[in-house]
Amino acid sequence: MSAMAADALGSFIADRVEVGVFAVDLDFQITLWNRFMATHSRHAAADVLGKNLFECFPELPRNWMERKVRHVQALRNYAFTSWTQRPYLFRFDHNRPITGGVDAMRQNCTFLPVKNAVGEVEQVCVTVQDVTDTAIAQEQVERSLAALEREKAEQRKLIRQLEQANNQVMQSEKLASIGQLAAGVAHEINNPIGFVNSNLGSLAGYANELMTVLDAYTGIHDQLPAEVQATVAQQIDGIDLAYLRDDLADLIAESRDGLDRVKRIVQDLKDFSRMGETQTQPADLHHCLDSTLNVVANEIKYKADVVKCYGELPDIQCVASQLNQVFMNLLVNAAQAIDGRGTITITTGREGEQVFVAVRDTGSGIAPDKLNRIFDPFFTTKPVGTGTGLGLSVSYSIVERHGGRIAVDSTVGEGTEFTVWLPVRPPEPAAAA
Ligand SMILES: Nc1ncnc2c1ncn2[C@@H]1O[C@H](COP(=O)(O)OP(=O)(O)OP(=O)(O)O)[C@@H](O)[C@H]1O
Ligand SMILES: [Mg+2]
Repeated sequence: MSAMAADALGSFIADRVEVGVFAVDLDFQITLWNRFMATHSRHAAADVLGKNLFECFPELPRNWMERKVRHVQALRNYAFTSWTQRPYLFRFDHNRPITGGVDAMRQNCTFLPVKNAVGEVEQVCVTVQDVTDTAIAQEQVERSLAALEREKAEQRKLIRQLEQANNQVMQSEKLASIGQLAAGVAHEINNPIGFVNSNLGSLAGYANELMTVLDAYTGIHDQLPAEVQATVAQQIDGIDLAYLRDDLADLIAESRDGLDRVKRIVQDLKDFSRMGETQTQPADLHHCLDSTLNVVANEIKYKADVVKCYGELPDIQCVASQLNQVFMNLLVNAAQAIDGRGTITITTGREGEQVFVAVRDTGSGIAPDKLNRIFDPFFTTKPVGTGTGLGLSVSYSIVERHGGRIAVDSTVGEGTEFTVWLPVRPPEPAAAA
């Protein structure tokens, strides 16, 4: 092919391709301007050829282009820039739907060195490729990704809520089955406790009577014949009668104490398993609190000052003896949580159809990993013999039966607040129970 023919073919292609092609010399005089450039810039080739690029298009990024051209000149190699780095070189309109979210034609540009016979770069030819479709597609993908991400977050939230609901169901199922077990155990223990208690009463009486008889014998000891006296004295020494007398009374008293403790535990178990008293009556919670404070005064007075912040409370339809037990558990727990001396604050009030009783202490607080176990039956952090771990689980089920709930807020080292929420009018099943 002749040189002329090749040039003509080159111009022909440059004018027909759907790519912008233009060239500038090293002073940015325009030397080539194809039809694509003319159409989109609305400047015909005849208007711009031989003129300075930046005078024709002052909006172009001049510094950046100068750097590019110098780069191509120095390295004698082409340079490329993608729309993701610089959305466009010329601000051309595009004919895609507005909904695409792209305001102007996106362009990929290539800067090609045009060399003379001795290989020096004399001009730079720039191609401007319309990549608006790719950009729109990419933005749609990004929007879909963001929507998916939002959906995923929504799902994670739902899963968390499901887990919480599941935990609650498991907790109340656990309480229900332990309740049944406790009811059985309480029932079985009740009988033996009854007769052991009554036998122990008789035993104490008999022991007393025997002692009286023994005293009578001791009174006439001197009147016995000498050899009988010697035999009796030997037997008395053998069993250490003086010690036995003292210890017998102690043993019986201790056993009765122990039995009382067992009775209290059985009582807790009964309450826990919904046995015993269930008649509801209108009650003044402030009165309940005050009488409970009297009962536990001994446990509290050496540990804490009690501050009462009583609000206005209507009478509540409830089983007062059971709520007393709840308050007692909370107050005793509060006192036991305090090292040295602290403060227990009791706040009451009404919010709409609910009343609350909050017991706050300045005690040790509860570690976060223990917080979800404190309502479990038999969960205790107290030394063996001090706590049974039933206080809070009993309280929980009592309050639940009244249609209320117990909330807890605790900071380790600062203290704990238990808040009992109760409905002013209990729901029907609780009232009927
Ligand atoms: N006010 C409080 N401050 C710190 N820890 C507390 C408080 N109340 C309860 N706890 C923790 O919760 C545990 C369970 O309390 P709960 O009343 O059920 O049982 P307990 O007090 O250990 O025994 P008891 O059956 O004698 O009441 C306690 O052992 C303690 O670790
Ligand atoms: Mg307790």
